[in-house]
Amino acid sequence: MKTTQQLSLFPEIEDIDSKNEIENWGTFKDSLKAPVHRWFTYPAGFSYKAVTHSIQRFGVTSDMIVYDPFMGSGTTNLTCKNLGISSFGVEAHPFVYKIAQAKMNWEINYQEAVFFIKKVEKIFIEKLDEIINKKGFSIENFFPELVIKCYSKNTLEKLYLLKMILETEELSEPVFNFFYVVITALLRDVSSAATGWPYIAPKKLKPTSTDKEVLVEFIKLSYQMLQDIRNIKQSSSENYDKSTHNLFNADSRNTKMFIEDQSVDYVFTSPPYLNNFDYADRTRLELYFWGEAKNWKDISDNFRTKLITSATTQILRGDSRYILLDEFKQECDKITDFIQNSAYQLAQLRKFKGGKKSYDLMIIGYFNDMYKIIKDIYRVLKPNTKALFVLGDSAPYGIHIPTDKLIGEIGVSIGFGNYKMEILRKRGDKWKDNPQRHNIALQESIIILDKQ
Ligand SMILES: C[S@@+](CC[C@H](N)C(=O)[O-])C[C@H]1O[C@@H](n2cnc3c(N)ncnc32)[C@H](O)[C@@H]1O
Repeated sequence: MKTTQQLSLFPEIEDIDSKNEIENWGTFKDSLKAPVHRWFTYPAGFSYKAVTHSIQRFGVTSDMIVYDPFMGSGTTNLTCKNLGISSFGVEAHPFVYKIAQAKMNWEINYQEAVFFIKKVEKIFIEKLDEIINKKGFSIENFFPELVIKCYSKNTLEKLYLLKMILETEELSEPVFNFFYVVITALLRDVSSAATGWPYIAPKKLKPTSTDKEVLVEFIKLSYQMLQDIRNIKQSSSENYDKSTHNLFNADSRNTKMFIEDQSVDYVFTSPPYLNNFDYADRTRLELYFWGEAKNWKDISDNFRTKLITSATTQILRGDSRYILLDEFKQECDKITDFIQNSAYQLAQLRKFKGGKKSYDLMIIGYFNDMYKIIKDIYRVLKPNTKALFVLGDSAPYGIHIPTDKLIGEIGVSIGFGNYKMEILRKRGDKWKDNPQRHNIALQESIIILDKQ
């Protein structure tokens, strides 16, 4: 049994002020205004309000456990902590995981943090000139070209010094992680190039930030983020510190080693949308700055391969991962033909289209991976529970792939009782006038799977 409703989401909750609010639930807009949530601008993130409303709507209480298999920057887990509800979170991208981990730690030693800020100030005043004027010192030796192009020499020298101080001071782990996020947040703020998401354009100047002074911004942001911790604690349920949160830098296709069967009461998540972001590439500036990757190969080997297939940049043609799994064909026979026909059409179109994008293989890889993850979610959920997915559909080369309905169908095929789809917003209008793009109306929705 399945039903589709438009904008009827969460009608039982009275304080939804408008349709506009629901339209933003699949985006990070609300979260950018909320303490701690806003520490890292993660455009792949969703609204903490969507998590709160759904938890209230489905009566999730403090004796239950919520799970987000695509934790990202931790919106679901942070919201749960705020409400005093325990959670699990799994994130495969090591850098994004670190951000979530830091946002979940509210017990950082305030004195230690303030001491570090003052130490940074002192070193900047006393040692900066000495370090950068040292014979043989050249900032170009420390970073890949992309980083060098995004900053003025002076700004990058100061960012380098901040990084050095963080890496050499002996700090407790929570304080280190906190300042790792402070400095990360500064990176796009003080760049002189257009480093906004999703694309970095090193040649394009961003006049608004040319005069931002690294030390001033660092001090300002550090205190603002310390204040955020105080604010979030004050606004939280009095039981927030009794809730437990187990976060894993791991692959949600198989969590058997660390999440037990039937141990979860509720899932709220948002998988990578098909053909939307290449999460490894989008974090290139941060990975290069921290020395966690030095080139495209590092990004591919150490980050891209860990993530589920959702972008053509991840595809190596000829890899057996891009053949539809036999188990998928057996269990999800109702949608197998649709997926294979779509892949066939995309393979035909690829022959004539510029760019020769591997959309044909991407969709097979995506549904193979989502199948494994939905099966794992089914395994960890207790009976009489729900799994909610915030999702967008897509239309590569103009072939509509209704990812939302297909995820619902996979769920029902592997054992969920039914699925329901609630539409959050129509999207993709900006492409209407672009002759290179399709004119298929896309949408963002929530799929609700019921485990009986
Ligand atoms: C749409 S984002 C989720 C954002 C999150 N809701 C937030 O508010 O920050 C999807 C996330 O899934 C992660 N991911 C991709 N493949 C994964 C896998 N196999 N296991 C766990 N996480 C994965 C990506 O790195 C990305 O951070």
